[in-house]
Amino acid sequence: MPTATAEAHPNIAFIKYWGNRDHEARIPSNGSLSMNLAGLVTRTTVTFRPDLPGDRLILHGHHVRGRGLARVVRVLDRVRLWSGLHWHAEVRSENNFPTGAGVASSAAAFAALAVAAAAAAGLDLPPRDLSRLARLGSGSACRSVPPGFVEWLPGSSDEDSFAVSIAPPEHWALADCIALVSQRHKAVGSTEGHRLAETSPLQNARVADAPRRLAVCRAAILQRDFDALAEIVEADCHIMHAVMQTSRPPLIYWTPTTLAVMHAVRRWRREGLPVAYTIDAGPNVHVLCPQEKASEVKARLLRLRGVRQVLVATPGGGARLVGEK
Ligand code: DP6
Repeated sequence: MPTATAEAHPNIAFIKYWGNRDHEARIPSNGSLSMNLAGLVTRTTVTFRPDLPGDRLILHGHHVRGRGLARVVRVLDRVRLWSGLHWHAEVRSENNFPTGAGVASSAAAFAALAVAAAAAAGLDLPPRDLSRLARLGSGSACRSVPPGFVEWLPGSSDEDSFAVSIAPPEHWALADCIALVSQRHKAVGSTEGHRLAETSPLQNARVADAPRRLAVCRAAILQRDFDALAEIVEADCHIMHAVMQTSRPPLIYWTPTTLAVMHAVRRWRREGLPVAYTIDAGPNVHVLCPQEKASEVKARLLRLRGVRQVLVATPGGGARLVGEK
């Protein structure tokens, strides 16, 4: 039976993807830049079988149907189109990090799915096509395909919208200390959020200024300039949340603990500790720092009221077949 297993890491965006030019194909309104997160891993096995009446998704041993399955089918349909294979597939996937904790797992999941499904179908795709394939399932997943520090070149169509590595994981010993904050009710997910971005009068200004923020962030990474990185990462986080908070209906992801962590990080930085925060579509706060400061940052975060747990991740490699280096 044609089968393959792949692993991938989630990623944290320093310059965010928020809003699409084309929601169906996930062609983003702006380019984005991220770091893969080693330590957090999704492992996915894809097996094409002649006896299956439809595609099947099994997450942590549980069958998933509905929208989750539909996104997987989208990626598998493209693999069938490119390979000429007509069988349906069974997809089994597991994360080594808590799924309900609010750490987005879709980027790692679709990057691993793209790599495993292509290999199982016998396709030998160049990296850009693996990134395009992952993008069909989740936009940010295209950034989990290449290794290290990664830029998603937005493009204008399915063919030219994919991500590339701008520096390998060893380039800069950064850490992402993820402060997990309790979440009472389920927030609006990213897919719905991207559709609301255009209802904010601030989105056009955010998109127009994105090439500048990307250039500043790219230079900060290439020069390993933490102060410059801190300033642009926080500015980009604020401008995305300004769009979210001014959408109709408004999306407010922050909780009192989120704000308390933001203020604490800014205070620590004023006192001389190199730290910076960024926040995705949820209440958790990603606190970036040089790796040698990670244990101190983690200890400080755990002392803040409302922070339940802190996961520490370092720059990670790209999506790969299991058994490969
Ligand atoms: C706030 O990639 O999760 O994390 O394409 O609908 O799956 P879909 O959206 P997704 O959006 C990510 C939004 C973000 C910012 C980012 O990671 O760039």
